[in-house]
Amino acid sequence: MTDGDPPLEPSVQRAAVRQRYAGLATTESCCGDDSRDGSTTEEVLGYAEADVEAAAADLSLGCGNPTGLASLEPGDTVLDLGSGAGFDCSIAAREVGPNGHVIGVDMTPEMVETARANVAGEDPTVEFRLGEIEHLPVADAAVDVVISNCVINLSPDKPQVFAEAHRALRPGGHLAVADVVRTAALPTEVAADPDSVAACVAGAAPAADVEAMLRDAGYVDVAVEPEDDSREFIREWDPDRDLSDYILSATMTGRTPAAE
Ligand SMILES: C[S@@+](CC[C@H](N)C(=O)[O-])C[C@H]1O[C@@H](n2cnc3c(N)ncnc32)[C@H](O)[C@@H]1O
Repeated sequence: MTDGDPPLEPSVQRAAVRQRYAGLATTESCCGDDSRDGSTTEEVLGYAEADVEAAAADLSLGCGNPTGLASLEPGDTVLDLGSGAGFDCSIAAREVGPNGHVIGVDMTPEMVETARANVAGEDPTVEFRLGEIEHLPVADAAVDVVISNCVINLSPDKPQVFAEAHRALRPGGHLAVADVVRTAALPTEVAADPDSVAACVAGAAPAADVEAMLRDAGYVDVAVEPEDDSREFIREWDPDRDLSDYILSATMTGRTPAAE
């Protein structure tokens, strides 16, 4: 395997990812090793304590804080790629208010069910749709902001995800993503391990590749910025090695060009 090869066949990758998140839909850890204590995650990732306390979902499986990046406005329509148990959708719903709309998309039925029970039942402005982020169940130019938290690394076709998000965004809309990027070639046994792909490790792309994917998909004002502070939690993801030598959490932002 070379550094540029995809780690797994797409169908194997999707199956590994779906299996992992179906199992985690009712538990409390996500990325890297299962022993990670999810309860400290929100503090480390930089969520405001008030947001965490008010969120209708208590299961955060992310590696950053996309709502903190997204500058959401009252009335915005927000799309969350890989919405999991609905944590970020719940925070977004409070920010966009009663005239806004939040759509979460996730391909794991157990996650969608959990998110609906957690959030959609409490807030009529939030809905969850079962679907793949490579084929979004969302109309063209229907949303103002796309957010995502530790999901796009799991996709076997990242350029297609960015293209679909671009299609769903209105002209002048924006994308605010937290996700892992690869900073060094992973050891072969990690790169080829389906569990490592599903655990948000082996599918991470280099920041420069993500920037190129965003530009190729038509975004402007693109920035992909690895966060050095994320070493603190990423080094806890694997008891056998320090994964922060290979991956870091990053912010990924871009905008669709305004209509002429
Ligand atoms: C690491 S969890 C993050 C969940 C959520 N964003 C959060 O921060 O709590 C990844 C989620 O993305 C979903 N997912 C992974 N790949 C996907 C894909 N290609 N299409 C749709 N959902 C996907 C999984 O089912 C899982 O719920």
